[in-house]
Amino acid sequence: MTEDNVSPITTDVVMPKDVVYVSEDIVNTGIGVIIDVKNIYKYFGNLKVLNGISCSIGKGEKVAIIGPSGSGKSTLLRCMNLLEEPTYGEVWLDASVMTPVDPYLHKSILVKSNTYKKRMVEEIKTMLGKDEKDKLKYDDAVNLIDKTSLENLSEKVLIEIKSGDKLKKSEGAEFKKAVKDYKTRYGININKARQRVGMVFQHFNLFNNLTILQNMILSPIQLKLKTKEEATNKALKLLERIGLLDKKDEYPSKLSGGQKQRVAIARALVMDPEVMLFDEPTSALDPEMVGEVLSLIKDLANEGMTMVIVTHEMGFAREVANRVLFLDGGNIVEENTPEELFGNPKNERLKDFLSKVL
Ligand SMILES: Nc1ncnc2c1ncn2[C@@H]1O[C@H](COP(=O)(O)OP(=O)(O)OP(=O)(O)O)[C@@H](O)[C@H]1O
Ligand SMILES: [Mg+2]
Repeated sequence: MTEDNVSPITTDVVMPKDVVYVSEDIVNTGIGVIIDVKNIYKYFGNLKVLNGISCSIGKGEKVAIIGPSGSGKSTLLRCMNLLEEPTYGEVWLDASVMTPVDPYLHKSILVKSNTYKKRMVEEIKTMLGKDEKDKLKYDDAVNLIDKTSLENLSEKVLIEIKSGDKLKKSEGAEFKKAVKDYKTRYGININKARQRVGMVFQHFNLFNNLTILQNMILSPIQLKLKTKEEATNKALKLLERIGLLDKKDEYPSKLSGGQKQRVAIARALVMDPEVMLFDEPTSALDPEMVGEVLSLIKDLANEGMTMVIVTHEMGFAREVANRVLFLDGGNIVEENTPEELFGNPKNERLKDFLSKVL
């Protein structure tokens, strides 16, 4: 691992998209990446919404996600705090894996599978000209060929398993243990993880039967993150900051869209998140209210908050983001600084998209 590679997880092999592994020597550098999306796929039935997405969000980064409707932007964002569980792939928060372990990303786990062992034995038999029916155990078989041949063969069989999605529901006790050990070592309780990742939705998602203040203190108290007093103090400070302290005992229905969205942002902040995810935070607002919400998000960005923002506001993305991802058909098709991505787009689909929205 090189010094400038600060990601806690590195892919040691990058071949076709399906053939990505997570390095075994995870180094928690304490700096660098906060959210690491590793080769995720998301299928809803037959609909393939995300098709092998990898991206890392660095601490302090402001990443904008743009792309046509239906390209998978919200789904990607929701996978980042496990509101959706990816079909394949892993999402890491710092040095912990939030998703279930994806065996396809780990060589050390794949080689424990019955499918791998069975295929290896078959291949070795063929190499040695043995009869198919000959009984040969995996542990013995691997000693019958030289090291280089074994490594080459292993690589070939692993790729076959990965690209063919060949793992079965049950792959034997050793495999099961390897998955479990990995999860024990790197896993994190999902509720704990979610507390660290705040989310703001297009439609605010405030509880209409609770007052503004009650909305804001509900989660931190329920999750035992803060006492009622601590949560209330923090909520009041935040309400003061966004100029809505006088609304604390009102119900959401009494607030304008812009006010509701600012409360929703403040509500996420009560939890002291390390990252904020925004899913089109202004697209449900009347035009005159967009500014107040964007300016709050901009302030947070300037204070150093790490954020990922799905947005149709290209001007805002350009101004606030240090990196923009263009999603199309469930893939990151282009990724660059806003200057480059907007000023000098390379991909045809991005050019076409920008010509429609700019
Ligand atoms: N829970 C679900 N069940 C079934 N299909 C879903 C689900 N969520 C999303 N989809 C489908 O996945 C595709 C991508 O949806 P997604 O919401 O991620 O797109 P988007 O890029 O955010 O689009 P928009 O700009 O319109 O918000 C769409 O075809 C959508 O219908
Ligand atoms: Mg969306």
